[in-house]
Amino acid sequence: MNASRLRPLIAGNWKMNGSRAQTEALIADLRGRAASQPDLADLLVCPPAAYLMQAAKLLDGSAIALGAQDCHTRQSGAHTGDLSAAMLVDCGCRYAILGHSERRADHGETNELVAAKAKAAHEAGLIAIVCVGETEAERDRGATLDVISAQLEGSVPADADAAGLVIAYEPVWAIGTGRTPTPEDVAAVHTHIRSLLKAWFKDGAEMRILYGGSVKASNAATLMHVAEVNGALVGGASLKGEEFWAIALAAAGG
Ligand code: 13P
Repeated sequence: MNASRLRPLIAGNWKMNGSRAQTEALIADLRGRAASQPDLADLLVCPPAAYLMQAAKLLDGSAIALGAQDCHTRQSGAHTGDLSAAMLVDCGCRYAILGHSERRADHGETNELVAAKAKAAHEAGLIAIVCVGETEAERDRGATLDVISAQLEGSVPADADAAGLVIAYEPVWAIGTGRTPTPEDVAAVHTHIRSLLKAWFKDGAEMRILYGGSVKASNAATLMHVAEVNGALVGGASLKGEEFWAIALAAAGG
């Protein structure tokens, strides 16, 4: 078992995948599993924005939470194509993934912007999952911990607390590649993140730190039992009910 007493959070980041039919099938599958094996972990699905309303209806009355993959810094106004945190709450979301490396790369999101989004999320009552992670070049030159420190310092609002903040450590080179850091490397980064959170926040020991990057059924038991790993942010494997469930089981210690 993980030495940490924090309840694991297993979050599925569907990214830009799926359809109405797939959303319906996957949520039905997960609901069935959650009904027969309740209370394994906190469970979260983050479908594309187009399917949030549909997913909210399908999840109604279940223990599986709904999250978005982004939000704007403002709660309303002239921002064509954007979605506010208040709207996401209105659609049934409890979480928003913010500062994912794909958004940092595809949309030029800076630490400052991510912090402003996290602040907006908190104001609307959303739990922010703030993502950090080094590139392969940064790891190769031994800069991993410095990069993580700078991203965290810049992306996490100063008034965050454990009820409203989750950190996801996602090495960029491990996302969608099938490659993962060694358990020792994951432990080094998560322990580093924990020490920063404890130094900055009164309840920093209670903030969950997820690992993400090629998590799947076959490596989940190893990754989920590393020190200071409090769950997973899962991409590709979250699109298959059986894989996602195996990860939840592994995190729960089964
Ligand atoms: P994969 O699990 O597909 O590597 O994606 C990880 C990720 O980016 C989750 O946010």
